[in-house]
Amino acid sequence: MGKSSKKCKENRQQRKEEIAKIAKTQGILNAAKKQDDPMANLQPFSKFSKDGLDVTISFSKVDDLDEIAKEKVLDLMRTNMKETYESCDWGWNEKEKYDELFDEDARYILAKGDDGSLVAFSHFRFDFDEGRPVLYCYELQLSETARRKGLGRRMMQILEMFAWQANMERVVLTILKNNPGAKSFFLSMKYELDETNPEDDDEETFCYEILSKQRKIKTVE
Ligand SMILES: CC(C)(COP(=O)(O)OP(=O)(O)OC[C@H]1O[C@@H](n2cnc3c(N)ncnc32)[C@H](O)[C@@H]1OP(=O)(O)O)[C@@H](O)C(=O)NCCC(=O)NCCS
Repeated sequence: MGKSSKKCKENRQQRKEEIAKIAKTQGILNAAKKQDDPMANLQPFSKFSKDGLDVTISFSKVDDLDEIAKEKVLDLMRTNMKETYESCDWGWNEKEKYDELFDEDARYILAKGDDGSLVAFSHFRFDFDEGRPVLYCYELQLSETARRKGLGRRMMQILEMFAWQANMERVVLTILKNNPGAKSFFLSMKYELDETNPEDDDEETFCYEILSKQRKIKTVE
């Protein structure tokens, strides 16, 4: 076989492998998105009690949230983050935030008190990120009185279990540089700068960082 036809064959084989990989990743993502309740296997982790904080953690798809539940999510988001967003390049645009929070792909874990009050939530999605199947944690928001009791850690552990049981490669998230408490929290959870994190240079600086944690066990072939 001539050198160039060998090269062509190699290219074709490479393309075939790439297409197969994309199809496989798509299949993994579809299966992850289809799950009715990833929390069903994780019931022992649904109750959290510490230092006077008693909550039940449950999973919801965005369609399961009624307008009152959406309002509570948005209220907690605004209370926690409006000022932080306003003091960086992002600014606070409530319409945009509403659309992002309640996009059809949004998934939630909600931590509620015995009286049904919303104590904390995480908005996450199963998504393609630079060709990787990932669980993207868009938000982790706790009301002020619930903080530093281990609830944030518990909720991230649940998201990680969701990710690994659905064969995601990573859990990925974005933090603002002007939110050092969040950075300390995620570092304490062993998150590291992701390969997609944009680096500041002379032309551009970024007010955020992208962190991630990789799955330790190899994805099921
Ligand atoms: C960031 C946040 C989710 C952390 O949740 P939490 O339940 O308070 O954190 P935990 O109690 O699980 O903390 C685990 C460890 O993280 C670190 N940590 C958490 N919050 C921290 C803070 N504000 N400053 C420094 N370290 C912190 C500590 O090492 C802590 O362990 P310790 O309490 O034994 O010292 C919570 O503070 C929060 O909702 N903040 C407002 C919203 C926000 O900034 N969200 C992140 C957006 S990306």
